[in-house]
Formats: sequence, structure tokens, C-alpha cells
Amino acid sequence: MPQNPPAPSAGAPKFLTLSPVIPVVTLADAALACDLAQALLAGGVAVIEVTLRNAQGLKAIAAIARQVPQMLVGAGTVLNGEDLRAAADAGARFAASPGATAQLLAAGQKAPIAYLPAVSDPSEVMCALEHGYRYLKFFPASVAGGTDMLRVLAGPFPNISFCATGGISPQNAGCYLQLPNVCCVGGSWLAPADALARRDWARIQSLAAAAVALRSVPVR
Ligand code: 3PG
Repeated sequence: MPQNPPAPSAGAPKFLTLSPVIPVVTLADAALACDLAQALLAGGVAVIEVTLRNAQGLKAIAAIARQVPQMLVGAGTVLNGEDLRAAADAGARFAASPGATAQLLAAGQKAPIAYLPAVSDPSEVMCALEHGYRYLKFFPASVAGGTDMLRVLAGPFPNISFCATGGISPQNAGCYLQLPNVCCVGGSWLAPADALARRDWARIQSLAAAAVALRSVPVR
């Protein structure tokens, strides 16, 4: 008799298990990185994705990796193999992309750090599967079909688990997190630009604490 497939979250890479919400942050100033990491940790979030969308990204990753080792720091907006290498060299412990290419999918399997490619439709899931990936980012979640698309993808791909990112908010995160094929979500709302500019660490701590509590919020 065929066995039930394992729960999609079984064997997940550590960075996908630490918080229901992975903060996705683009820092205007890498000097803010360590205080930000401490504020998120104080709120109960021990993972952060710092994007490589500007020159501050790698500096921020290096600073967090060196000075706040309790924070599991990763690189976002990894667009090619060179970004992946630079992220690992800077101390990132995972890397994520807004999409995937054949080159990156292959490089990610050989990389010294965990790599999370993104998909937005079934063909892209099939391509990632061919390369051996079971954990995928679903991006941009809100415009790629949102929770309806994730429910549909659970049919043909019961063993794939998604981190939904892009357009996730405190208002809709619970709807994503209740899906069995969603292991976590990503979002930029935990570190708003205005809070960063004002160094309002108390606000960021409180946003992080609220995000951690989202897992247990009943969805209407
Ligand atoms: C991004 O593209 O910056 C991340 O996926 C976060 O998206 P968000 O700003 O919609 O949360």
C-alpha cells in the first residue's frame, strides 16, 4: 500500500523553520543592520533576509553574520551564481531569488549555503523539481494567484513546500500560513523604511512579536 507523503515541512532547511514570517529587508545603510537584527531577535524572529538590491546588502549581511551570530542571516535578490558566491562569502547562511534560472538552480545545489529559488507557476515548479528542489519561494505571491494558486499547486505537487513572498501583510499572512503547503511567508513589513530611518527599534521589535504570533491567529 502506498505510504502517505511526508509532511511538506519535514526536513525543511533551518531558515524556513525559525519564524512564520521571514523579514525581507533592503537597507539604505548597512550601519543599521546589527541594531535591526537585535530588535527582530528581541521580538522573537531569529531569521532575516537582506536583499542585494543595493551595495549595502553584502555589508549588512557581513555585519550581522559577524556581530549578531544568533541571527540567521540570508541574502535576497540573488540573481546569478556570482551573487550566490558573494552572499556565501559575506557570511549569508541562505540565499533566495525572485525567480530561478537553470544556471542558478544548478549552482544552488552545489552551494555551501541553502538556496531557495522562486517560482510563480506549475512549469517553474517542474523545472525546480528536475533540479531536486522541494522548498520553493512563491513570488510574487499576491499577483501570481495568491492562496488560490497555492491550493491548486498542492494537487500536482503534494511534496513541495512554499515560502510565499510578495504582497504578504499582517492582514493576509494568516490565510497563507494555514495552507498545508506553506511553511512560512516573507514580508518587508517587519522593518518599515520609516522605522529604520528613525531607528525605532521598539516598533520593529513589536512588529516582529506580532508576526511570530500570527501562526496561532485563527483564520476567519
Ligand atoms: C520583495 O520583493 O521586496 C519581497 O518579496 C517583499 O515583498 P513585500 O514588500 O511585498 O513584502
